[in-house]
Amino acid sequence: MSTATESGVQHQPGVPHEPDARHRPGQDDLPHWAGAFPPGFLWGAATSSYQIEGAVTEDGRGPSIWDTFSATPGAVERGDTGAVAADHYHRYRDDVAMMAGMGLGAYRFSLAWPRIQPDGTGAVNQRGLDFYRRLVDTLLERGIQPWPTLYHWDLPQPLEDAGGWPARDTALRFADYAAVVHDALGDRIPNWTTLNEPWCSAFLGYATGRHAPGRRDPAGALRAAHHLMLGHGLAVQAMPGAQVGITLNLTDVRALTHQALDVDAARRIDGMQNRLFLDPLLRGAYPTDVMDDLLPLGRPDHIRDGDLRTISAPLAFLGVNYYSPMLVAASDTAQEHAYPGSPKVRIADGGRPKTAMGWEIDADGLLALLVRLNGEHPSLPLYVTENGAAVDEGLRDVTRVGYLESHIGACAQALAIGIDLRGYFVWSLLDNFEWSFGYRHRFGIVHVDYATQRRTLKDSAHWYARLIRGRTR
Ligand code: FCB
Repeated sequence: MSTATESGVQHQPGVPHEPDARHRPGQDDLPHWAGAFPPGFLWGAATSSYQIEGAVTEDGRGPSIWDTFSATPGAVERGDTGAVAADHYHRYRDDVAMMAGMGLGAYRFSLAWPRIQPDGTGAVNQRGLDFYRRLVDTLLERGIQPWPTLYHWDLPQPLEDAGGWPARDTALRFADYAAVVHDALGDRIPNWTTLNEPWCSAFLGYATGRHAPGRRDPAGALRAAHHLMLGHGLAVQAMPGAQVGITLNLTDVRALTHQALDVDAARRIDGMQNRLFLDPLLRGAYPTDVMDDLLPLGRPDHIRDGDLRTISAPLAFLGVNYYSPMLVAASDTAQEHAYPGSPKVRIADGGRPKTAMGWEIDADGLLALLVRLNGEHPSLPLYVTENGAAVDEGLRDVTRVGYLESHIGACAQALAIGIDLRGYFVWSLLDNFEWSFGYRHRFGIVHVDYATQRRTLKDSAHWYARLIRGRTR
């Protein structure tokens, strides 16, 4: 674990954090497009419950699938868990003060279902809800818009024991949970997100087993994908009057060559990664080519009459998580990957610089994605709800600054051509538990010294704060 000692710019717990003046020259180091963002544009940062909160047994929280999975030998690197994480559960006040110091207009976080319904159903744990009441009130006191996600992967373990997302009942339980949360907090929160990246929940959770609950059951993963979407639609119904959206991990899929087999490989991956979620939500139908690709896994008899009507309830906005494009080619041999139904497809290397995750850096992919979404659904408001980079450069994170600059520049271009993009959230506010990679990779614009829980703004946080200030002053 690295420490925060590379810099004198350290945040003492309890002290509201202002960006260091030494890192705040005038506005002249801002990119030329910095003025392109309209006044109401939402500048935010994102986190999720299991990745930062810790306190996994406190105040009545029940176990989630990530507690179980991270306790499974070999599932997470070095046996890391979210048991303590960034200790945000206890430090949220300081963290919110730090956000205010950076000038953030919004904070995207998720609520841990097992804090609120430890069994995933029935009895509500008021102490769990109280944590989010306090967090939301603290944000509002600081003028920061709370941007909650109801589900960022921490399913209550009892629901997994009862079948998990491959079971239809989980979708119904999710809607009950959504109603509980909306009743408690609906008066204070304008925009709600149901799910974060259902692709990951379904295919990493139930097909490859790289994520909790660690099952390797491709047909079950397809049922999970549908029930996640159904849960989204039922949750929309359960939150009357709320502005509800969803966040998807979408990408710009490119074929390695113009040859027919590679083009077909790209069609398949675009189908599984993008259209399998976009089409039911926004067109009320699953893409027929993708359904044909998936037929070898069995007939989709888990899809019932009326489900697609439920799933395609009008969206108030679409959240887009973008990190990297995907270059795709046909393969002679079957590959192990997260795309059931298309084994003879491989992910190719585009030869661009990569982040510490091995993800290629290409901001053009973000622009292409926004252009596509706007072209297909012109009246749908868009938010970039995650974008950022894992880099191992400590506090002088020049690669992350470059990454953010190029991708926010792509957002500026999107605005310039009339795309209805309303906000941008950097992933992530804090270094955190990066799922099966544990604490190896650091995504935060704020460094966390896990030994002391000291927070320190990295250069990227100072840069982002200047960008926001340059825009809003
Ligand atoms: C996304 C997840 C988020 C984080 C980033 C790096 O897929 O939503 O929790 O892990 O990737």
